Amino acid sequence: MNGKTILYKDKQINGTIRVPGDKSISHRSIMFGALAEGTTTIRGFLKGEDCLSTIDCFRKMGIEIDENEDTIVVHGKGWNGLKEPSAILDVGNSGTTTRLLLGILAGRPFHSVLIGDESIGKRPMKRVTNPLREMGAKIDGREDAQFTPISIRGGNLQAFNYTMPHASAQVKSAVIFAGLQAEGTTTIVEPERTRDHTEQMIKQFGGEASRDGNVITVRGGQTFTGQEVNVPGDISSAAFFLVAGAITKNSVIKLDHVGLNPTRTGIIDVLQKMGADLSIDHKLSTGEPVGSMVIRHSQLNATEIGGEVIPRLIDEIPIIALLATQAHGTTVIKDAEELKVKETNRIDAVVGELKKLGASIEATSDGMIINGPTQLHGGHVDSRGDHRIGMMLAVAGLLANDEVTIDDVEAINVSYPNFFDDLESIFV
Ligand code: S3P
Repeated sequence: MNGKTILYKDKQINGTIRVPGDKSISHRSIMFGALAEGTTTIRGFLKGEDCLSTIDCFRKMGIEIDENEDTIVVHGKGWNGLKEPSAILDVGNSGTTTRLLLGILAGRPFHSVLIGDESIGKRPMKRVTNPLREMGAKIDGREDAQFTPISIRGGNLQAFNYTMPHASAQVKSAVIFAGLQAEGTTTIVEPERTRDHTEQMIKQFGGEASRDGNVITVRGGQTFTGQEVNVPGDISSAAFFLVAGAITKNSVIKLDHVGLNPTRTGIIDVLQKMGADLSIDHKLSTGEPVGSMVIRHSQLNATEIGGEVIPRLIDEIPIIALLATQAHGTTVIKDAEELKVKETNRIDAVVGELKKLGASIEATSDGMIINGPTQLHGGHVDSRGDHRIGMMLAVAGLLANDEVTIDDVEAINVSYPNFFDDLESIFV
């Protein structure tokens, strides 16, 4: 486990960044490419460890995928083109791979086994294995398929009306993938609106998915045709630079070609509510909405974050907590229990690691309370194997008045392999 020591005290930042491709869209582009008939060419694909795990799993099911310098080409053969894998499918650290793949496998008439790393082995899977079993998939696994390893034998699915207990795009997508293969029409009710990249991609690949309020409907028996997919930059990666720009004196940071799907832009709402100097330039695009953003150092005020916005910024909460340490007043983050079942328990990790750097922050049962502004100091911290905790701690280095040593920084490779190069490229 590699540690990295940074001394970013008094660094000024200025410049333009193009963050890597959106993780959620990259996973789905491989999946739809594999399930479609014909060739899918993907530009802007995120070559992070999580999305490479998805590629690896589909190759094990007989799908040819070419990795070129600027494109990924998936040679899809339709739903029936997936073959029973002779090896175990290793999902690595990726919850999205695990849950969406289970939805796909639920309808395939063969046997497969999924395993992942230590973190995946602790993440709850009954939230997908339960509804998929109800639809007819045969699933077994550790603790009655709550945890990996999980084995699945799919086929003969019936449509289902599912009211989700959690606001989770991964669960919604798993049930959608099963619904696409089921007999009849499946409906899913979300408690809050979650990211809709799966529904968008169904339409892009020639299928149908409809939404009425919080109810999503998909018809079984749909087929897809290969497409050209342009993956926008990941707003969840851009978030680290938006916050770095807002909290660092004299900074002006431009972020080019970032995905601005409204189900993902909660971070923008929060920055604007806190008083950040942020401008957004929406660009015309054919697929998902994209644009560029410019952020400048800003005087920030505390805010309350909860309710419907939570799924729209769930992955940004670690970096929002750091932002709140620099805002005047008390910031309250609530309704975010889901943080406890991410790559690590992100309530414990954010609170525990930021305290080591002098932040005034306390955990609550469903979030955290942060007082600011606070001068952070140096220290020895740990990513806890979680990419977003690692990147948040690196940005905290810009606020610390001494060295920060971050253990297990390689966790960042899951979603942003060149993160430190990009961050250090804007130092002036
Ligand atoms: C994701 C959904 C979210 C998010 C994860 C990616 C997706 O997870 O945290 O990073 O691509 O569907 P949940 O569905 O568990 O909220």
